[in-house]
Amino acid sequence: MHAASAGASLREVDDLPSPRGLPLLGNLHQLPPATHHLTLERWAAELGTPYVFHFGTTPVTVWNDIELSHTVLRERPQRYRRYAPIERILKEFGCNGLFSIEGEAWEPQRRLVMQALSIPHIKAFYPTLAAITERLRRRWEAAARAGDVVDMIDDLKRFTVDVTSTLAFGEDPNTLENERVLIQEQLAMLLPMLMARVNAPVAYWHYVKFPRDRKFDDAMVAVHRHIRELMTRARARMRENAAAQACEALLAETSPEPSNLLEAMLALRDEPGSGITDDDVSANVLTMLVAGEETTATSIAWALRFLGADEALQTRVAAHARHVLGDAAVCPNYGAMRELDLCEALCTEASRLHPVAPYLSLEPLEEVRLQGVRLPAGTKMFLLNRPAMLDPQNFADPGRYDPDRWLHDHRQIQDAASGCPAHRGAHEPRAYLQFGAGPRVCPGRHLAAVEMRLVLSMLMANFTAQLAVDPAQIREICAFTAVPSAMPMRLALR
Ligand code: HEM
Repeated sequence: MHAASAGASLREVDDLPSPRGLPLLGNLHQLPPATHHLTLERWAAELGTPYVFHFGTTPVTVWNDIELSHTVLRERPQRYRRYAPIERILKEFGCNGLFSIEGEAWEPQRRLVMQALSIPHIKAFYPTLAAITERLRRRWEAAARAGDVVDMIDDLKRFTVDVTSTLAFGEDPNTLENERVLIQEQLAMLLPMLMARVNAPVAYWHYVKFPRDRKFDDAMVAVHRHIRELMTRARARMRENAAAQACEALLAETSPEPSNLLEAMLALRDEPGSGITDDDVSANVLTMLVAGEETTATSIAWALRFLGADEALQTRVAAHARHVLGDAAVCPNYGAMRELDLCEALCTEASRLHPVAPYLSLEPLEEVRLQGVRLPAGTKMFLLNRPAMLDPQNFADPGRYDPDRWLHDHRQIQDAASGCPAHRGAHEPRAYLQFGAGPRVCPGRHLAAVEMRLVLSMLMANFTAQLAVDPAQIREICAFTAVPSAMPMRLALR
């Protein structure tokens, strides 16, 4: 048993404050799927931390304490796991990959993914990243010339799918230049369905399928077919390269290197006694596509919500981007990209106010005591992210969109000006948990940061961008990640 805090009197989950619910339904009727995260945050403000609500008869504890979140996230995979229904449902989708896998199988897969998304790998991949960004620029140039309103979320998802697929699987689907892309429409169904089924009080789809469920099943069949084809082509390339690589490796006295994540996973699967199957590889391909697509696209889209309504900020970012890019339309190299801190800060600050991951859901693998509460193994835990990011003790003037708060130089100048660090205002990066923390922290965060820098610098250096909707009308929709309801923009060439 583990005690994270020794309370004087131990409370049980049932003793925690709770919003009033109904017999059998619990609080389900108060949690509309698209906005349930907002209700959970409102209850946190009213009831404090921790509190408990009920999905039907299942109690879910809700926590809003940064140090506790760090402790729980750090003590994985031994003491806590992800919320078990996520793994159960993702298994049914054929998507039980790195995000949801638990136990001993997690570590070898984590190592492969970390390597594939490592800084040296992304640095080597940079020219391709820049080429895909140039493709996005051409798409936006055509829209600007035609005077079209651009669905920025859709375009950004095309960009992130092309990037992830090319980097991780060695194949470029070029969704940016192919108008109707089925794979993307099919992938888009996965996260909303995951959330709907994770939160469903009964697994109705095991007994009856509604049209939405049937459409989803068809989409998953098509996605898996696509992935199997991808794997077959990767194997063919590996065979073709094997002889040449083996020869070179012999000369260099090294082992042949797989050239991307998919090849590395296939090579691991083929090792005697690996215990890894083709289904595991396929699940990880799908995991990478889903984990890398919407999260990054959404983070950039939320930054556009603020940029698109603020001409002065655009002028400033445009000048900075032009300075770094020189005459180029897209940031020309990895070194220059590292100067684009402001572009990343635009996204970091947007996701502080509109977190892409409003909460992380976990459960202990053994009985634990947290803040004087006894949690039996398997107790559902939601760790809320936003309240701490809106707490003035963590971030000065927390309601204000202020990307500068994330810039090192700016903070140093402020310190020098006041001569006293205490006067610079609160800035607590530990309260920003958009990528999680601990051993299962997001392995894609560096790639995501490079994508943010490339896209926003390209956009601001080449275009002016205006929201084609009143920003007040843009709502947060929770479909596992919290996405903007829309982000239509009008672009004009600079
Ligand atoms: C702004 C963009 C992104 C955000 C906000 C984000 C957020 C997250 C969060 C909150 C987690 C859970 C971390 C935890 O449990 O501590 C996670 C895990 C993960 N992310 Fe990301 N992510 C982003 C981009 C990406 C990208 C680009 C990729 C890959 C191409 C990726 C792949 C993954 C994977 C595979 C995991 C599971 C890791 C594990 O359980 O070991 N993510 N991400």
